[in-house]
Amino acid sequence: MTPPREPPTLCDAGVDGLPEVMTTMADAFDPVFGEAWTQSQCLGILSLPGVWLTLARIDDRPAGFALSRVVIDEAELLLLAVRPADRRAGIGLALLEHVAHAARTRGARRLFLEVRSGNPARGLYDAAGFRAVGTRQGYYRGRDGTAHDAHTLERRLDIR
Ligand SMILES: CC(C)(COP(=O)(O)OP(=O)(O)OC[C@H]1O[C@@H](n2cnc3c(N)ncnc32)[C@H](O)[C@@H]1OP(=O)(O)O)[C@@H](O)C(=O)NCCC(=O)NCCS
Repeated sequence: MTPPREPPTLCDAGVDGLPEVMTTMADAFDPVFGEAWTQSQCLGILSLPGVWLTLARIDDRPAGFALSRVVIDEAELLLLAVRPADRRAGIGLALLEHVAHAARTRGARRLFLEVRSGNPARGLYDAAGFRAVGTRQGYYRGRDGTAHDAHTLERRLDIR
């Protein structure tokens, strides 16, 4: 029998949340593809207006995070990650819906993101109502220098 899914606790955080983010980042992203950000990249973006960090916790321990930005009426999901041990329990989707709601509240009408071609995360975005609107050739640069394309996905926030 599948164990019941416990909903995560979601909370917004500032730079104080970065140690938790960096631990999850190291666990969640395969360095082969060059999708993870460094701490200084996260620190830099968090100082910009319209950027916010959301932490997901299960039983008060870190399980995932989302980093997002809104500029006027467009929002962007910059990073989304769930620890491997906590996957397929609805945490990614809960973070995504939380970000979509927060972006709408901040005035965004569309939510964008980039996902590496071949990343299984695409399954989550398809399930959450995103559609592909473009491709960026060689957007990610892997550890060995290999370039990986990114698909740009969009979800309208002004229709339900
Ligand atoms: C992508 C990621 C955040 C998903 O987190 P998650 O908590 O496992 O996602 P959820 O449990 O909320 O998934 C909800 C639904 O999305 C789809 N989905 C999620 N992960 C999927 C996968 N690997 N393959 C196919 N579909 C998937 C499924 O429909 C799933 O529902 P189901 O489990 O009932 O079938 C997580 O796999 C991750 O951190 N990956 C590494 C980092 C990364 O690539 N981030 C995205 C960068 S753009």
